Amino acid sequence: MGTTNYGEIFTERLEVRGVLVSMLDNNSVYIKVDSHNPDAEQVRRAGKILQEGGLVAFPTETVYGLGANALNPLAVAKIFTAKGRPSDNPLIVHISEVRQVYDLADDVTVPGQRLMEAFWPGPLTLVLPKKPGLSENVTAGLDTVAVRMPGNKVALEIIAAAGVPVAAPSANRSGRPSPTIAEHVMHDLNGKVDLIVDGGPCNVGLESTVLDITSEPPVILRPGGITREQLEGVLGHVEVDPAVSFDSEKLVPRSPGMKYTHYSPEAEVIVVTGDEKLTFEKIQYLINEYKDKGKKVGLLVSDEISRLFELELVYATGSRNNLETVARSLFDGLRTLDSQGADIIIAEGYPSGGMGDALMNRLNKAAGHNIITV
Ligand code: TXA
Ligand code: MG
Repeated sequence: MGTTNYGEIFTERLEVRGVLVSMLDNNSVYIKVDSHNPDAEQVRRAGKILQEGGLVAFPTETVYGLGANALNPLAVAKIFTAKGRPSDNPLIVHISEVRQVYDLADDVTVPGQRLMEAFWPGPLTLVLPKKPGLSENVTAGLDTVAVRMPGNKVALEIIAAAGVPVAAPSANRSGRPSPTIAEHVMHDLNGKVDLIVDGGPCNVGLESTVLDITSEPPVILRPGGITREQLEGVLGHVEVDPAVSFDSEKLVPRSPGMKYTHYSPEAEVIVVTGDEKLTFEKIQYLINEYKDKGKKVGLLVSDEISRLFELELVYATGSRNNLETVARSLFDGLRTLDSQGADIIIAEGYPSGGMGDALMNRLNKAAGHNIITV
């Protein structure tokens, strides 16, 4: 994993009951907690800020979230300001106990219940018919609500301590890659949120799967941490919104957020996908081409391919044979190569199926559909 030196930001650090606390004017308060055994006092503090209408960034198993009290329109509005997020993009409501879904949604069908049993807590978001009571700006005026119970101890304890459902998008500036470590959140949102809770790196590394179960068959609106195959194991057939497949530039997605440019580092991104040997050859060709143009080239490639290149900026994402490891480091890779000054990032693509679908969806967006299939 790449690291960023936040020495300048944390000019004053205090050890309080073994918990690191930063206290600086105009900076967000930063606390570090044990991911398996978060300090109860710190959890209460985060919960109280949420309950009272503040913004708290906290870890989930997918990516870091930027939370606000979902019942408080002013608190929710602050999320959009802090992120620079378009107001027509609805938020996911996070809960700490399954029964809370019945306060938020009407008509949680039998398939919905089976999915919750199989995958909650975990990286699956369900789109359901909404009940009245939620702040309007959470759902961006839709008659559905997206709900998720995250599979992360720190997240669950903070939501429980808040005592209210917590609306939380990914804790990045709008358009940037989602944050998978607290440093990413600091980079994007320091000073814009009340509290940043550092619970270590996110285990999944890509966002949750968003599944619309208001239609039959259910439709995947965003591929993510739970794969289509896993969902079909429970439900039989599920559809995938054609607009989210990686060769679908012209279709309008059913999930509002999926239409925006996303996951974009500063650098231009090109994805090369297909046969492993041809991918290697094409990447070699592109490196030479961009070097000749005087560009600083960064590579975002699997461990297998990374070993074959002698280049200054190479970020190895994990093994081609274990796409979970690649998922965990993809966003950090994009951010790290950016911070190292790459002008162009050449990324290796991955086969479809399993986690490959979510990986290619994110890479495709980072690359603005600039994909070369070999
Ligand atoms: O893993 C995740 O889902 C993370 C963590 C923090 O939980 N959250 C996350 O939130 O990725 P965000 O806001 O970055 O992405 C939410 C996606 C957007 O594409 C949004 O348009 C979609 O979910 N969404 C939310 N409510 C929806 C609804 N009612 N109908 C369709 N899509 C919805
Ligand atoms: Mg997001």
